[in-house]
Amino acid sequence: MKEIKTAVLGATGLVGQTFIWLLSRHKWFDPVMLTASASKAGIEYKSGVEWSLPFELPEETGKTILSSLDYSLLSKLGIKIIFSALPSEIAISVEPKLRNRGFAVFSNASAMRYDKDVPILIPEINSEKIDLITDQGYPERGFIITNANCSTTGLAVALAPLRKFGINKIFVSTYQALSGAGFAGLNSPELRRNALPWINGEEEKITKELAEILQTETQIMPFCVRVDVPYGHLETVWVEFDIIPETFDIQQAWNDFTFRDFELPSLPSNPVKYLGPRVHPQPKMSFEGSPPGMQVFTGRLKKENNLIGFVLLCNNLVKGAAGGSIENAELFIRRYGDNL
Ligand SMILES: NC(=O)c1ccc[n+]([C@@H]2O[C@H](COP(=O)([O-])OP(=O)(O)OC[C@H]3O[C@@H](n4cnc5c(N)ncnc54)[C@H](OP(=O)(O)O)[C@@H]3O)[C@@H](O)[C@H]2O)c1
Repeated sequence: MKEIKTAVLGATGLVGQTFIWLLSRHKWFDPVMLTASASKAGIEYKSGVEWSLPFELPEETGKTILSSLDYSLLSKLGIKIIFSALPSEIAISVEPKLRNRGFAVFSNASAMRYDKDVPILIPEINSEKIDLITDQGYPERGFIITNANCSTTGLAVALAPLRKFGINKIFVSTYQALSGAGFAGLNSPELRRNALPWINGEEEKITKELAEILQTETQIMPFCVRVDVPYGHLETVWVEFDIIPETFDIQQAWNDFTFRDFELPSLPSNPVKYLGPRVHPQPKMSFEGSPPGMQVFTGRLKKENNLIGFVLLCNNLVKGAAGGSIENAELFIRRYGDNL
């Protein structure tokens, strides 16, 4: 039985849709309130959404009536956990209000991500950061926990097990899916059969967030490019290490990066899966893996002088957004119970 009542804010957007799909399969969390922009309040979810995932819209959710964000209704419905897929400019005023009213907010927006008491949480890397919620006033108040930016997440997960070799420099080029720019990006005619060699703010986010998540002052040099692919961010990475490993050492480090006893339903037992030296990973396999969309796929390992190179793929909507938030909420429940 699903026991924990939740709300999804921005439920009709691409991250919101991903929450809907994942929560329809989740055993703990029941999404009882869905919101979109005010003009859609009162209509059925299936009429208010332009469903864009490569799966059917869950039938029951399709009949849910979209609400406007009503703080007292949230409490009346017994909702404790809020999954936020709001645009950052809306999140910046809404999320702190929710925190002040005692809710646990798991957010995908960048609005609150850089506050010093707000964790950028990836349980397989920095689960201890969850305790920052006490600096926000929990348990007397609610709290906000954020995900990393979607292009940072895959890179952080692939690099975390390689820190033991001493990372000196990171060069990364991203090939980011249209869905990373939300519904508008997925449907933008300018991006058809095209690539855009600049994504506003993205390179700065990677640099700042990767340093924070990996706790490193290593130099990070990103190029971010939007490409005409619907889902899945591909990244090519070169890393300079202190102790120059062989490619099989890297493969071994990824294989050994396992979480069999962590007991979070959304955490893969092997967060990084190496797929071999040639044609993989490819964005069309974004929703594969176990759990689907939550593993980071790597491939094309090579060594040139003192550099190790590889390609990675991260599902921007699942691991890089909604799935990451759900995993963070699972970690909260495991660590603190549903004490809200
Ligand atoms: N896309 C990704 O891969 C990704 C990854 C990581 C993080 N994020 C972050 O996640 C958030 C959502 O991204 P997205 O890609 O899902 O965007 P999106 O497709 O544009 O969806 C935005 C959602 O917010 C709702 N909304 C818009 N204006 C609103 C308002 N004034 N009040 C209340 N709701 C409003 C929209 O409702 P309507 O349908 O009514 O317009 C829609 O449900 C953003 O902060 C983004 O930066 C995205």
